[in-house]
Amino acid sequence: MSIQSAIVIGSGTMGRGIAQVAATAGLTTFMYDQNAEQVKSAQGAIEKSLNKLVEKGKLPGETAEAAKNNLKPISSLNDADFSKVGIAIEAIFENFDAKKALYADLTSKLSADAILASNTSSISITKLAAATDRPQRFIGMHFFNPVPLMSLVEVIRGIDTADATVETVESLAKQMGKNPLRCNDMPGFVSNRVLMPLINEAAFALMEGVADAPTIDEIMKQGCNFPMGPLTLADFIGVDVCLNIMEVLHRDLGDPKFRPCPLLRKMVDAGHMGRKSGKGFHDYAG
Ligand code: NAI
Repeated sequence: MSIQSAIVIGSGTMGRGIAQVAATAGLTTFMYDQNAEQVKSAQGAIEKSLNKLVEKGKLPGETAEAAKNNLKPISSLNDADFSKVGIAIEAIFENFDAKKALYADLTSKLSADAILASNTSSISITKLAAATDRPQRFIGMHFFNPVPLMSLVEVIRGIDTADATVETVESLAKQMGKNPLRCNDMPGFVSNRVLMPLINEAAFALMEGVADAPTIDEIMKQGCNFPMGPLTLADFIGVDVCLNIMEVLHRDLGDPKFRPCPLLRKMVDAGHMGRKSGKGFHDYAG
């Protein structure tokens, strides 16, 4: 099935990036957020990002203009033309109850054969799918931040996801200029299952005084050829987000090796969330 129109729900960090790549791929893209201010700021940010890509020679001017026209910011779900929408991509807060409540409203409007995808980074796709009327057409579409620049999309199939859904979503991801890679639904999927314990271990190394934060990051950059040290990456992702994902891995896999580092918890309690709060493992004041 070829998809001509999409709706992206949530226009925060991820939703705006997803809406941008969908609109650039030629899809009529409705972009909704429960907070009307977010929709407005997302539209401005997308236009700025498209202009910058044109300036850098990474996107033809006509494609950027077409993308701006394809983007349909809406402040009520009732303003979308659901008869044409082939996929809804949800990128709202990482909270099961919030997502479940949204799906109830959304699926009453979506056509029966439309796909519902979640960008969740840690909630079970199978559990989310079971909270909808369409487990066979429910899938994880896990984009990476910043979406316009990161090529990977982890495509996660829940226990009941149909092959046709996986295939449609893979070809859509390619149309968006992304490289889809499949995995099955297990806590953390592949990316966070492997990345978060690395960040967690770096936090343990810091807490235990093995080295200071800049040295831990430099050792991992120079020794492992990482583009960015794990603690710098944690600051970029958000220390609270890292803690939350470690808690999910620990709880859902039941293995003590996923125990969240107490330093992560202490930092979150102190409000040291990383870049977004101005302080995390490193200082971003000024
Ligand atoms: P964010 O906090 O930047 O944006 C979330 C947006 O959702 C907000 O604008 C909020 O107003 C809106 N929202 C909340 N409930 C809503 C509802 N019921 N209806 C409509 N809009 C609603 O969050 P972010 O970082 O964009 O994350 C979104 C999702 O993407 C989460 O599931 C997160 O786990 C996932 N994710 C985040 C990544 C990141 O690096 N930030 C990376 C990959 C996945």
